[in-house]
This record gives sequence, C-alpha cells and structure tokens, in this order.
Amino acid sequence: MALAQITLHDKAFRPYLPANELAAAVTALAVRLNHDYVDRRPLFVVVLTGAFMFASDLLKQIAVPCEIVFIRVASYQGTGSTGVVQEILGLREEIAGRHLVVVEDIVDTGTTLHHLLPTLLAKGPASVEVATLFLKPECLRHDLTLKYVAREISNDFVVGYGLDYDGLGRNLPDVYVAV
Ligand code: IMP
Repeated sequence: MALAQITLHDKAFRPYLPANELAAAVTALAVRLNHDYVDRRPLFVVVLTGAFMFASDLLKQIAVPCEIVFIRVASYQGTGSTGVVQEILGLREEIAGRHLVVVEDIVDTGTTLHHLLPTLLAKGPASVEVATLFLKPECLRHDLTLKYVAREISNDFVVGYGLDYDGLGRNLPDVYVAV
C-alpha cells in the first residue's frame, strides 16, 4: 500500500523512507557491529528519546554479549569560562575500560555529540564509537568520527521511526520528510 502524505501540527510531510528500507539499513549496521565487537562486550549507550525505535531494532540483532543503558543529555549555558555544560542523565554504570557504542537517532550539526563524546571520554572508556540511524552530512559543523551510519540523508527535516516534530511522529514506522 502506497503511503500517503501526513500532517503533524501545522506541517505537511511526504513519505521518504519506508520501514523495509530502514530495516535493511539497520540490519547492515548490526552485521558490522557483530563483526567488530566480538569478545569486547560492548556497552550500548542509547540516547533518548529519538533513538528508542532504532535502538530496539538494532539491538535485537546484536549477537555478541553486550550491555545496554539509556541516557538523556541536558545542555545548558555555563558561566563564561565553561561555555555549554552538558549533563548526562541516567548513566550509573562504571564505564572506565569499557567499549562504548553511543546509539543516536540523527546527527545534524553534530553539536550534541560534540559535547557528549568528551564527557564520556573523560570517564576513561577503552573506546567510544557512534552508531547513528541518520547523518545529514551537509549540516555537520564539528569534526566527528562517525563509524556506524545506517543512512545518510539530505538536509531536510524528517520524522517517524523515533524522530519527532514538536512531540509528534515518533510512533510512525516509516520516515517522512517535510514538504
Ligand atoms: P545536532 O546536535 O545538531 O546533531 O542535532 C541532534 C538532534 O537534533 C537529534 O538528536 C534530534 O533530536 C534533532 N534533530 C535534528 N534533525 C532532525 C530531524 O530532521 N528530525 C527530527 N529531529 C531532528
């Protein structure tokens, strides 16, 4: 059945990536992770909220022993000398010496990861890599190493499969793009 255009709040969205295409991209990523993390017992650090659906599908296909935690990041302006301060909520696990895989929904400007990765690295993990569902290469403003990208997309606003527009759209199994 062909997907139809939808409206969320005041904005119209047209079908962009159907669930079967997303599933294929997620499986391809899981295959790579299973290969790269043999005997490393990775700790998957899922960044809420947008990554919940991607993480669920991805992690069901991880066959190596692993652990999973869910975090939220809260950013706020610090004092003049500290700039943006980022707080990680929900990370109670000891991450020193662990192999971390940060699971993100989408990397747009890269600002979120630009602040999150140093905060994690300061805690002494053995390694930190990023697995993101989407990357908008045209928007990236920071020098980030993104080893696991399920899919690159154009500089457009997308919703569905965990991603929202002002709270709506996260539940949709397919991804839509603003028209
Ligand atoms: P960044 O810090 O600029 O890389 O932005 C990352 C965050 O912005 C993501 O985790 C999303 O919450 C949000 N975001 C960026 N682009 C989109 C989009 O196209 N749809 C929905 N959320 C987006």
